[in-house]
Amino acid sequence: MRHIAKTVMDTSGGERAKFMTAKTPPDLIRLDSGSPSFATPPHIVAAVKQAIDAGHTGYILEKGVMPLLVAICESIAAETGATIAPSQVLITNGSSSGIYAVMSCFLDPGDEVIVFDPSYSLYPHVARQLGAVPVPVRHKADYQLDVEAVRRAITPRTRLVMLNNPNNPTGIVYKEDDIAALLDLCAEKDLLLAADEAYSKLMQPGQVHVPVLKFHRHLDRLILLGTFSKTYAMTGWRLGYAVAPPDLIDYLYGIHRAINGPICNFVQRAGIAALQGPQDCVAEFNAVYHKRAALMHRLATTIPGLHPAAPQGAFYMWTRFDLPQSAREVRARLFERGVAVRSGSEYGSGGEKHLRISYSVSEETIERGMAVITDVVSELAKEAA
Ligand SMILES: Cc1ncc(COP(=O)(O)O)c(C=O)c1O
Repeated sequence: MRHIAKTVMDTSGGERAKFMTAKTPPDLIRLDSGSPSFATPPHIVAAVKQAIDAGHTGYILEKGVMPLLVAICESIAAETGATIAPSQVLITNGSSSGIYAVMSCFLDPGDEVIVFDPSYSLYPHVARQLGAVPVPVRHKADYQLDVEAVRRAITPRTRLVMLNNPNNPTGIVYKEDDIAALLDLCAEKDLLLAADEAYSKLMQPGQVHVPVLKFHRHLDRLILLGTFSKTYAMTGWRLGYAVAPPDLIDYLYGIHRAINGPICNFVQRAGIAALQGPQDCVAEFNAVYHKRAALMHRLATTIPGLHPAAPQGAFYMWTRFDLPQSAREVRARLFERGVAVRSGSEYGSGGEKHLRISYSVSEETIERGMAVITDVVSELAKEAA
């Protein structure tokens, strides 16, 4: 058999990989989706066509096309008051490749990265591929940040903290005071913090997302990972960005370029249209997600044995269940009965006895899916009795 690098062999299994390659029956009710359920807004599609017609089809030999770098800096300034130079921004192949670049840049084999448990499953996956050690830190009972638990987890090998706000899979939005305390702790221990804010614009009513770049005194240790995927329904366009302090960004650029080359020129032009064009599309997406989240949460609260958290952001509802079966077993039984959800344990052991249910689907699909979940939870409870 051909030699495959040990880190790849060690990391190409696991729940995440199995899920990615699983075959799905055509009539499956997909409450597992991580994609927005909308088409990319027409003005963004028009911008890419114009960019192709205008001949923007060659390599970009810089970190990104200058008008996009400037547009990103302007949107950050408007949102956070932070002054970021275009030279501090790197356009990435979605935020996934930004995550990979950050971990490659700052973690040697054996170094430790703090990951909140549960959070996006790519972080520990990439860390292990690099021979680094993901150190999971559980949330509090309300799924908020436990900064004292982070303090206890820090060792001399800790280099980086990965923050995912709003959190995938919990759909929880972290509180400003906790983020401030976490950043102060990073400063005390001289750690970098990378904030993956992929869902920052998808917020439930009354929720406020606190961007890390608002904390200006910490800008020298902050990396922002942004993406157009979720906000503008552009998952297939593969457009994201990393923002880093001036002394670090060129390291990210070097490693990112080695794997990806430059990011598609005309897609970057569409990113300018997304940031500088009308933002009504984002408000419209949110209005739809609000209705769907309310419906899903209302139905879930009527199911005996489920304890759903009220959705706060992204498009996921996170629910604990009182059943003797594991999250994987519950997920598997639901799958057999025609409903796909994600098992909480896919996102860390702190997600055991939980499911992530996506409301990025129609209300009719939510109703059909939740009806099956009601039956399956009741059956599983009876089997255990
Ligand atoms: C929290 C989080 N970060 C990053 C990503 C990656 O998104 P993309 O590479 O499309 O920007 C996802 C995708 O599901 C996600 O959930």
